[in-house]
Amino acid sequence: MLELGVNIDHVATIRQARKTYEPDPVTAAAMAELGGADCITVHLREDRRHIIDRDVRILSETVNIKLNLEMSIAADIVDIACETRPHQSTLVPEKREEVTTEGGLDVVGNYDSIHDTVNRLHDAGIRVSLFLDPEAAQIEAAKKLQVDAVELHTGQYALASAAERQNCLEELAAAGKQIVDLGMTLHAGHGLNYQNVIPVARIENMVELNIGHSIVARAVFVGLTQAVREMKDLLVIAENGN
Ligand code: PXP
Repeated sequence: MLELGVNIDHVATIRQARKTYEPDPVTAAAMAELGGADCITVHLREDRRHIIDRDVRILSETVNIKLNLEMSIAADIVDIACETRPHQSTLVPEKREEVTTEGGLDVVGNYDSIHDTVNRLHDAGIRVSLFLDPEAAQIEAAKKLQVDAVELHTGQYALASAAERQNCLEELAAAGKQIVDLGMTLHAGHGLNYQNVIPVARIENMVELNIGHSIVARAVFVGLTQAVREMKDLLVIAENGN
């Protein structure tokens, strides 16, 4: 079954706009679970602009489905992951000035530091996924690191014009095949929404999609449980081929 990871960072973005206690991402996680989420995803950024340490700590104790912690390889963040032991860590590149994660991790260029982080996380019993652009050399480097999964960056697909979209999809599918042939689990995410998710969900051997902004945006109008349910329904349609 194709799994839906719901990224609830932007619930925390609203809270941090006033540095208050509401809305609480811990409540959001429970509502997402009720709507059919298979996984709760949060990104503990180095600048703590949305998710804060307290959220990760409480979510690690209260989430009954999978908890996926997106994170950079900064040592203090890795310390928090090793203490809270989420089900999975997804390593992402992080720049302070960016509005959101802009590209995949450069595993080839930062091999040694990523290797150390992967080993620390594996020693703590945490599954490791790497957020990568659909590039063969990066995927080969991920395999050398013995990570469990690769999350393909779908941002370029999401932003593509109608004419470019098919090419982007073919690139993602080829990268997905390489990931699976090398024995890693295939994930994807970034920029996916109710209009563009189905072709990505139909890429062969896709296991997990991580989706945040579009679900939280819809939740403002229909509620989070309903917004998650509507996305989950699309994944079921994609799988059943209707
Ligand atoms: N996957 C990764 C690795 C991300 O960094 C993000 C954004 O935090 C997402 C998925 C979700 O992207 P979006 O909010 O555009 O759905």
